Amino acid sequence: MNILLLGSGGREHALAWKMKQSTLCKNLFIAPGNAGTYLVGENVQIDVNDFNTQKQFCEANQINMVVVGPEEPLVKGIFDFYKNDETLKNIIVIAPSAKAAQLEGSKSFSKRFMQRHNIPTASYKEFTKANFEEGKKYILQHSLPIVLKADGLAAGKGVVICNNTNEALQTFEDMILHQQFGAASDKVVIEQFLHGIEVSVFVLTNGKNYSIIGHAKDYKRIGEAETGLNTGGMGCVTPVPFMNNSFMQKVEEKIIKPTIKGLQDENLVYNGFIFFGLMNVQGEPYVIEYNCRMGDPETEVVMPRLKNDLVALFVAVGKNNLQNITIEYNEGFFATVMAVSGGYPSKYKKNFPIYFNNELQQVDSIIFHAGTKKENDIIVTNGGRVLAVTSQGSSITEAVKKSTTALQKISFEGMYFRRDIGFEFV
Ligand code: AMP
Ligand code: GLY
Repeated sequence: MNILLLGSGGREHALAWKMKQSTLCKNLFIAPGNAGTYLVGENVQIDVNDFNTQKQFCEANQINMVVVGPEEPLVKGIFDFYKNDETLKNIIVIAPSAKAAQLEGSKSFSKRFMQRHNIPTASYKEFTKANFEEGKKYILQHSLPIVLKADGLAAGKGVVICNNTNEALQTFEDMILHQQFGAASDKVVIEQFLHGIEVSVFVLTNGKNYSIIGHAKDYKRIGEAETGLNTGGMGCVTPVPFMNNSFMQKVEEKIIKPTIKGLQDENLVYNGFIFFGLMNVQGEPYVIEYNCRMGDPETEVVMPRLKNDLVALFVAVGKNNLQNITIEYNEGFFATVMAVSGGYPSKYKKNFPIYFNNELQQVDSIIFHAGTKKENDIIVTNGGRVLAVTSQGSSITEAVKKSTTALQKISFEGMYFRRDIGFEFV
C-alpha cells in the first residue's frame, strides 16, 4: 500500500515508525513531516489543510490510504473531501466526517452529545453574548474551582481553570466580549471541576465496532511534580497501574459503548481514532473531553506498546471488519520523556543544532522527533517540543530512567526535560 500521513509532530513520527514496520506498507509519505519522519519515509511539502494539493499528490502516487495526525484537517472536513471526490473516494481515510469531528471541534456539541447518551461528564451550562449576564450569575453561585472552555479549537489553550470568582468573571468577559480566543470563544462552556486522576484511552472505530488500542497518562505541566504552566504534554507512561480490569470495564460500559452507539444512532460517520480524555474520580470514569485524533506524546508510548500491525488495523477500519481483530500488547512498561526548548510553553527560540552522542547507538530507547527539521544536513530545533525519547522497562521507573539517561546524550541550546515522569507510580 502507498500511504500518506499528514502532520509533523512526535505523534506523526511514532505513527510513521509503526506503519513502516507493516508488511502492508510499500511507500510511506509524510506531509510535511520532520527530521525524524525523514528517516522512515519520504517527506513531502504539502500543508495538512491543503486538500487540493493532496488530491494531486494522491493521484500521482497511487495513494491507497491517508492517515490524519492533527485535528484541524478533521474539523475542516478532510474525510468528506476525499469521500465526495470521484478519484479519491476509494482511498481509506483514517478520520471522522466533519460532522463527527465536532466532538473535538465544539465543546458544546460534545457536551450535548454526552448528555443525550447519558455519558458521565462534569455538569455544565453554555453561554454566548446573548445570555452573558445570566452567565455571570451562574459563575457567582458556582462552586470553586470552576472551568471555562472556549467552544471551538484554540490550539489547546481554550480551557481556563479558575480558583476564584473574580478570575472566572474576568476570563468569561475576555472570552465572550473580547474574543480572547477569536470566534472559538463566542460560545463558552462553564463546567464543574472534577477532582481525580486523568488518563487517556485510545480507540479505533469504524463507527460500529471498536478496538481499544491503548491508554496512557500524560504529564501536562512544565515543572516537576506537576507545577507551572500547562504544556502540550511533557511525558507519558503506559500501562497505568490503576487501569485494571474493573476500571477498564466501567470505561467500556459507561463511556466507550454509549459513545459508539451514539455515533450510530445519530448517523455520525466515523473512520478513525477516538481519544477519550478521562478523569478517574474515586474509581468512576468521567469524560473531560473527546479528541478525534491520537494524543501527543501519548502516541509515542501507545505505538511502541501495541503489538498489532497498525496498517492492518487501518485496513480493518476501512473494510468494516475490526470485530475480527484481537489487540495485543508488548510486555512491560513504556515511558516517553519530552525534551523542550528553553522558554516553552511561553516564548522560545528555534533553529538550534541538536547534538546526538554516538553512545546513543548502544541504548535501546527510541528517539521520536517532534519539533525538528533538517537544514543543510544538520538537524535543528523547530518547535517548543523537540524530541520525545521512549523506553521500555520492567517498571515505570526503569522505563523513565532509560529515557532520561538517553536524553543526557542529546543536547541543544536551552534544552529542558522533566525527570519525574510517572512520579506517583514509583
Ligand atoms: P483540554 O484543553 O480540553 O485538554 O483541557 C485541558 C486540561 O484541563 C485537561 O487535560 C484537564 O487537565 C483540565 N480540565 C478540563 N476540564 C476539567 C474539569 N471539568 N475538571 C478538572 N480538570 C479539567
Ligand atoms: N497530550 C494531549 C493531547 O494530545 O491533546
